[in-house]
Amino acid sequence: MFLGPPGAGKGTQARELAQQWGVPQIATGDMLREAVAAGTPLGRDARSYMDRGALVPDDVILALIAERLAKPDAKGGFVLDGFPRTIPQAEGLDRLLRDLGHELTRVIFFDVSEAELLRRLTGRRSCPNCQATYHVVSAPPRREGVCDRCGTALVQRADDSEATVRNRLQVYAQQTAPLLEHYRARGILTRVPAEGSIEQVREAVRDAAGAGR
Ligand code: AP5
Repeated sequence: MFLGPPGAGKGTQARELAQQWGVPQIATGDMLREAVAAGTPLGRDARSYMDRGALVPDDVILALIAERLAKPDAKGGFVLDGFPRTIPQAEGLDRLLRDLGHELTRVIFFDVSEAELLRRLTGRRSCPNCQATYHVVSAPPRREGVCDRCGTALVQRADDSEATVRNRLQVYAQQTAPLLEHYRARGILTRVPAEGSIEQVREAVRDAAGAGR
């Protein structure tokens, strides 16, 4: 599980590690954005929370995750990215994993200063089609404004404005940061200094996650 504030680089690293391991990356933020884009009832409901940087209610998220973890491609393991974000979500995850016969083996905390988070989020550009992320300075696409992977025009996420980012950081401090102590007490938390380059963080994440599975 990848845990950390908005913009810490969880998605960037989770996509790569999941690909390397041949397991799915399960990112609640991506799943919610897909529902918003498809205009489903879940998407319409979630959007009002996401646009102001608030968390979507725990019962909605847990139902979404229960459905996702039950899919066949999750049988051999998965990388959780951006979930859980509250203590009730962590408790719900424990129940789900018990029922499925899985075990949470490692929680990796991405440690990044607030100034760097603001720089990363306000410069982020995302692909609305394949969810790849770029940064206008530190990870630009080969062709400006166009996704390297699928050729779709890149967009700035609605919740990446400075005012909404500040609210997301506050929500993280209040509702998600308590998970650090929760998992530290279980002895499965590893802190990764995540302020270096994408390559340096990749190495640190691989060391923390263990080379194998
Ligand atoms: P979500 O999509 O999960 O957003 P988040 O946690 O705020 O995380 P981000 O996607 O913003 O950041 P990231 O850490 O993945 O960073 P990234 O790799 O993109 O959630 C969005 C919303 O959905 C929430 O606000 C909430 O409303 C709702 N939601 C989702 N899950 C929920 C849940 N479980 N419960 C309730 N509500 C939920 O990198 C950021 C930028 O930095 C990119 O531009 C990247 O290119 C760049 N970058 C990455 N690494 C580096 C590096 N090492 N050096 C320089 N630049 C870097």
